[in-house]
Amino acid sequence: MEGLQEALLTWYRENPRPLPWRGEKDPYRILVAEVLLQQTRTQQAIPYYHRFLARFPSLRALRQAPLEEVLKAWQGVGYYRRALHLHRLAQEVEALPQSYAQLLKLPGLGPYTAAAVASLAFGERVAVVDGNVRRVLSRLLAWENPSPQRLWRLAQDLMPPGEAPGEWNQALMDLGATVCLPRRPLCSWCPVAAFCQGRADPGRYPGARKRKVREEAWAALVLWGREGVYLEELAGRFPGLYGVPLMPPEDLPAKAKAFGVEPRFAGEVRHVLTHRRLWVRVYVAPWEGPPSVGLKDPGEKPLPKLMEKVLRQAQAFLAHEGILPFSHAKAHGVKPF
Ligand code: ADE
Repeated sequence: MEGLQEALLTWYRENPRPLPWRGEKDPYRILVAEVLLQQTRTQQAIPYYHRFLARFPSLRALRQAPLEEVLKAWQGVGYYRRALHLHRLAQEVEALPQSYAQLLKLPGLGPYTAAAVASLAFGERVAVVDGNVRRVLSRLLAWENPSPQRLWRLAQDLMPPGEAPGEWNQALMDLGATVCLPRRPLCSWCPVAAFCQGRADPGRYPGARKRKVREEAWAALVLWGREGVYLEELAGRFPGLYGVPLMPPEDLPAKAKAFGVEPRFAGEVRHVLTHRRLWVRVYVAPWEGPPSVGLKDPGEKPLPKLMEKVLRQAQAFLAHEGILPFSHAKAHGVKPF
């Protein structure tokens, strides 16, 4: 065990990934990084990390910012509930609590994020088990399908005593991200290969987790007029964000009637969320009415990624049909047509 601990820590100290939150001590900045990394790959997260912290450099700044601005800064990385939770958290506490148990009570912090912040920022000896760590540990012990509890107990037992629980956690995460890769792990580069019981057949460990992914069908109605696209505030899974009306497909006729329009089918977009695969049929119709919440330009409002896809699909269809575009297509990085 000590040999393994030493080998991994030495490797990490010599080869840390140069991530901007490495060596960071400010718990708030660590929190922002870890919340981003919940669902976003490191390389994609880095620009958002910088952007978010430039706009909201402290918990206090975040507290004082309007939610809409916070969501806007999050635009592009998706999973907006994270931004919503960060903003709510900033209202709830003056400063971040210093223990895992307390952190766990905050909105948006599960065991993984609470453990990451507690160990990195406050030096608490609590193990992080994310997807990378799950893979590394399963291979080390040749476990095909360990339960989360079993993994967590192992991760906790493996932590070296005393110094640097944050370093240890990040060492495991880095090993998973750069060496103990899901496919084709680089075992000959691995600092702990000598301790690895799964080395002969790493692809076997851990077995695939069965994820239940639900398929869902939706219809989106893009009402376009001279003043802009009709956008409304979305409820449900996108609180605080804006978008075109989204409904179960069977509700489309009633909705179209309510707006007094005859929509045309403009194609389908697919959007993958954690446990759902959405198939969204996009309909377009000309719109003479007011642009809903007084929007001239959808670029002013936070839109979820799904809605960007929907608008892009609508615009591609309109372009193909030779129908005149909106000037604000530009606002979304969509080529105007
Ligand atoms: N994944 C999530 N948080 C991380 C961190 N602090 N270092 C490396 N990988 C991570």
